[in-house]
Amino acid sequence: MMGLPPVIAIDGPSASGKGTVAALVADALGFHYLDSGALYRLVALAALRRAISLDDEQPLVQLAEQLDVRFGQGNVWLAGEIVTDAMRSEAAGNGASLVARFPAVRDALQDRLRAFRQPPGLVADGRDMGSVVFPDAILKIFLTASVEVRADRRYKQLIEKGMGATLDNLLEDLRQRDLRDSTRAVAPLVCQPDAVLLDTSHMGIAEAVSFVLSQWQAKVSGSAL
Ligand code: DC
Repeated sequence: MMGLPPVIAIDGPSASGKGTVAALVADALGFHYLDSGALYRLVALAALRRAISLDDEQPLVQLAEQLDVRFGQGNVWLAGEIVTDAMRSEAAGNGASLVARFPAVRDALQDRLRAFRQPPGLVADGRDMGSVVFPDAILKIFLTASVEVRADRRYKQLIEKGMGATLDNLLEDLRQRDLRDSTRAVAPLVCQPDAVLLDTSHMGIAEAVSFVLSQWQAKVSGSAL
């Protein structure tokens, strides 16, 4: 792996704020940013649109292999159509958690995910960035928050975007998704022994970003963490 651009892996459960933190850390360092959940969401969205069952592994693998996706200028295109908001819906998020259970779907996305590793470096967020996709990441963070805090954050986000939601439904969805993501056979969501735990239940975004940046500085300057 020598000579490959450095990676900071930020893994954690849904709605923990890891995406926001990861994007801001990437900005601060001038690194690229990978939202790996987006690819699972896009597979789910493509399946929902083609009425392909989210329990049917083989057609989902085909979708993942052939996914016609483009990222750019703050937007995401799926088969030529802008899906930036649609892929953020709860349906796409829950669907992503279902398609992500299948090892062959995960395998089909590996090369695309790894292709985001470009100079001068990458900040990648997801569930298995530090454990499976970039096991040689220089810094691994497990960013979490209590399920109640996460449901509340997601609720506010959705309301702000004018998308309907109820707190009780979000709480229930997150609990189910946490359980499914952390108990699946492949690449489960767990805090790895070599990851630094960051609980943001009582922490703002700025504080979380500076925590990650200070961990990074400590790593690159070689001081003990
Ligand atoms: O981070 P997110 O909420 O956008 O992710 C949606 C789903 O995708 C999540 O419930 C599990 C799956 N996922 C995964 O299995 N592995 C990843 N690296 C990223 C997401």
